[in-house]
Amino acid sequence: MSESSPGGPERRARELRRALRHHSYLYYVRNQPEISDERFDELFRELKALEASHAELVTPDSPTQRVGAEPLDAFETIEHTAPMLSLDSSADVEPLERFDERMRRALGDDIGYVVEPKLDGASIELVYESGRLSRAVTRGDGVRGEGVTENIRTIQSVPLRLRTADRDAPPLLALRAEIIMRVGDFEALNARLLESDRPPFANPRNAAAGSLRQLDPRITSARPLDIYVYDILAIDGRPPATQRATLEALREWGLPVNERCRPAADVGEILAFQAEIEDGRDDLEYEIDGIVIKLDDIAARDEVGETSHHPRWAFAFKFPPRKEVTRLLHIFPSVGRTGVVTPIAFMRPVELGGVTVSRANLHNREEVARKDIREGDRVRVQRAGDVIPQVLERIDEPGRERAEPWVMPAECPSCGALLEPRGPYTFCPNLFACPAQLAGRIQHLGSRHALDIEGLGEETANLLVRQGVIGRVPELFELEATKLVELEGFAEKSATNLVRAIAEARTTELARFIYGLGIPEIGVTVARELASHFLSFEAFREAAAAGKAAPAGDEAPAGEEAPAGEALQEVDGIGPLMAEQISAFLARPEVSAVVDELRSCVEPVPPPRAGDTLAGLRIVLTGGLESMSRSEAGKKIEALGAKVTSSVSRQTSYVVAGENPGRKLERAQTLGVEILDEAGLLRLLSDGPGALSPPEDVSAPDEAPEPGAAGDASAPDAP
Ligand code: IVH
Repeated sequence: MSESSPGGPERRARELRRALRHHSYLYYVRNQPEISDERFDELFRELKALEASHAELVTPDSPTQRVGAEPLDAFETIEHTAPMLSLDSSADVEPLERFDERMRRALGDDIGYVVEPKLDGASIELVYESGRLSRAVTRGDGVRGEGVTENIRTIQSVPLRLRTADRDAPPLLALRAEIIMRVGDFEALNARLLESDRPPFANPRNAAAGSLRQLDPRITSARPLDIYVYDILAIDGRPPATQRATLEALREWGLPVNERCRPAADVGEILAFQAEIEDGRDDLEYEIDGIVIKLDDIAARDEVGETSHHPRWAFAFKFPPRKEVTRLLHIFPSVGRTGVVTPIAFMRPVELGGVTVSRANLHNREEVARKDIREGDRVRVQRAGDVIPQVLERIDEPGRERAEPWVMPAECPSCGALLEPRGPYTFCPNLFACPAQLAGRIQHLGSRHALDIEGLGEETANLLVRQGVIGRVPELFELEATKLVELEGFAEKSATNLVRAIAEARTTELARFIYGLGIPEIGVTVARELASHFLSFEAFREAAAAGKAAPAGDEAPAGEEAPAGEALQEVDGIGPLMAEQISAFLARPEVSAVVDELRSCVEPVPPPRAGDTLAGLRIVLTGGLESMSRSEAGKKIEALGAKVTSSVSRQTSYVVAGENPGRKLERAQTLGVEILDEAGLLRLLSDGPGALSPPEDVSAPDEAPEPGAAGDASAPDAP
């Protein structure tokens, strides 16, 4: 048939769309193509040509429109139609048996399950409205995630329209599915990435998740993603009565459903399924990490309900972690940022569930001695999920001569200082001058949850220290681009970018600054607690220093001194031992000196307090006000967390212009800063900035990084 056929181009376009949709379904979902690839391409090209000459014929769900969208600036956060809960799980049989017992106790013996492979991919919600794919949202925190609709549209096996030949499409259908990448495709993708000098993905799951989070759908479309749909999250209309019927309905709608799902009557049948799946695990084209057991009867599910974390009607029975045997080549003591010296095992590379492992953390001297692991031994290594690989045990090789037991060196391999044993651990005492510790501290200060200095990763920090560019942490803030370009690995652009990123980090949130100092025991959460409790770095430092010399408060019995850092214990999550360690660290003269210097380079901004409705705003007042004096207005503004400044700049959020305003008003107009009259100010004070039109700054959120690019899954980290 051609364009001039009865009904004209419109009808032909409709025919072509229908045919392409059908053949895509046969090819991608059913794996039963009925026409050749060439014929398919021919039909596709015909539709494209038709749409090119008749733009009005393009429909959003046309097969030609999978990769139509422009790159996004950021993903939109979207709430799920219903919460996407997690699964209760275990790798042991007992919790599985208890799950079955609970079901029988609640529902009687007349129950049945459906067992399914637990796909190791990226969880996603798909929403079809009147049969058309309207949005796709990553699982995120379970309540809301990122809208990745345009990326999902590029996946050929995802129907843009549900099939309705055997079953009508409900007005609303929200589905839960897993995006996967087949192992062969994953390997080919990694090979391509490596060829073009880009970091490969650690495993197919990270590759799937990373590909979904591309802002440019064209990149996603070039990634070989696939999908399996396994659950109805919400439906407008009558839901199928069982999981079996659900899977059948999904199939009828043309959605890809995993063909290995099947009913199971009891624990015996569940275990048989698990054994079968685990046996064939290595032959599967995609990765799975266990099986999922679900109550078949949907009404019974409602009866048993759910916790805030997982439904009570389902259980994930996970595979035990993967283990492999390899040879231990060498044990190397590695100095971490806190001075802990950790023995690291270097092994002959071995594949462990999709990742090549060549290093493992041996933790401390006692651990090495206890396991009696020596260089040259055969060892069994294990990796569970993404967890850093472990050396489980050595494998006896009778008759083979072994190396001498490994001993921790007496001197620091990085700076030569005499190492100090503390319990099973070993420390380099040379806090700030040991190159390994210095590089570690610099890297930590620049890390994502600290000052977040882009371009200051492990490699750069090591380079700066090794080349003698930085001898003390605060010297980071003296770096000059002209010096950096002289170093190998720095181009002019990367040098100026790094210097700019460092300059931008001079103003940072208080919690980031506290965390970035690398104080023992202070992780991201504790740093946040400290920041919101003390509100200034000085107050925190004073609290840490208080005690012993200056007894704190009424609680201390007369004449006795409070223990150091007692005031820190008022903060959530800080106990006496932690308080003492923090105090002791900050009290060391060499620490104190570096902290002083860093504090003079960085301005930590306190977190907004509750009621700080104007936090982060900079406001300039000019001219007289009727309802209050200017200084009164200033006080009111500052009490709500905003800053009152005297000069207008691009950073100014609002200029409040009263009676007879001065030159500041003109400047605000030139710079395009929003101007408020007195009424506007009063609204701002009572209702916050939301009551006004938004000020200029709509700073672009970070571009989504590729999560889980395989830096080095086996990289050890000192405790
Ligand atoms: S059902 C509320 N079925 O496992 C129950 N989940 O560890 C919904 N997953 O986030 C989950 N295969 O992404 C279900 N056949 C399957 C699954 C499956 C993989 C994932 C899912 C979930 C994670 C929980």
